[in-house]
Parts: sequence; structure tokens; C-alpha cells
Amino acid sequence: MSAGEEPAAPPAPGAEPGRLVARAPSAGDPTGWFEPLYAAAEEGTAVVPWDRGAPHWLLTAWAERKPLNGDGRRALVVGCGLGADAEYVAGRGFAVLAFDISASAIRAARRRFPGSAVDYQVAGQRGRPFPAAAIPDRTNTAAGPGIPARAVSA
Ligand SMILES: C[S@@+](CC[C@H](N)C(=O)[O-])C[C@H]1O[C@@H](n2cnc3c(N)ncnc32)[C@H](O)[C@@H]1O
Repeated sequence: MSAGEEPAAPPAPGAEPGRLVARAPSAGDPTGWFEPLYAAAEEGTAVVPWDRGAPHWLLTAWAERKPLNGDGRRALVVGCGLGADAEYVAGRGFAVLAFDISASAIRAARRRFPGSAVDYQVAGQRGRPFPAAAIPDRTNTAAGPGIPARAVSA
């Protein structure tokens, strides 16, 4: 389902983002609600509320102001979701590795951008900070609660 389209059906009971968020901390798993949300979206029973179908305006405004040119350098997109930011960064000349904790999100991103140069991977440690030194160039424009602040930069 692309951004702006109506979901095929109302969210399944308990699949609405608000309910998933509310349930996850009590289960001791602050990032555990992302996968069920993306999986429900794949089935057409939920919408991903942050899916704009386009890169985040903060990213595009920043990149255009610089102007940003990757010249083949590497970029890591943390918590890439459905891939719009990763595709944008790749379009500006970066060799992009984009990852997300949700396998459904990565599947959807690969399907959404067939033949993409972006290397989409399922990765992420629940509740564990990413070592900053392991991140060369990085961007995350809409960090969720599971992404440590020191792994987020633009
Ligand atoms: C608010 S969404 C933003 C998605 C995307 N950046 C965008 O702007 O559309 C946060 C994303 O980070 C992912 N995420 C959350 N915690 C993570 C973790 N520990 N490791 C990897 N991805 C994570 C979620 O699955 C979700 O796709």
C-alpha cells in the first residue's frame, strides 16, 4: 500500500500503533511494536503513520542547503523503515547500507524499490545502543524510542 491510500480494512484489534506502543514497554521490549505494525501494514490492516512515501523534508532541506554530494562515500541509514530516506541519500551519490529492526519493513522497502542500489538489511539490537564509532556517516530523521540518541545524526 502506498502513502495516501486507504487501508484495505480497519486495523486489526490491537494492531493500531497506539496500542502496540502501549503494550511494548509492559512486555519489557520498547522496540517490539515495530514489527507487528509493519506486518499488519503489509497485510493492509494497519497504516504506518510516519510513511510519507517520500524522504523527510528535514533531510532534503539539509542536503540541498549543503549541498550534499556523496561521491561514492558510505552512508548508514539507521531505522530506515520503508526506505524513502535511504533512496534519497543513495540518489545523492552515497553507497547506502540501510537497516531496520523490522523484517517486514525491509521486505516492503525492497519491494517498493526493486533494483535499488541500497543495501537493505534487517538489523538492530533491542534496547542496546549502537557504538557510535561503528557508524561512518549516518542519518535518521525520525528516530523511534528504540534508537539511542547517540546513534542519530544528520
Ligand atoms: C519512527 S520510525 C521512522 C522510519 C524511517 N526513518 C522514516 O522516517 O520513515 C523508526 C524506525 O526505526 C526502526 N527501529 C526502532 N528501533 C530500532 C533498532 N533498535 N534497530 C533498528 N531499527 C530500529 C523501526 O522499526 C522504525 O522503522
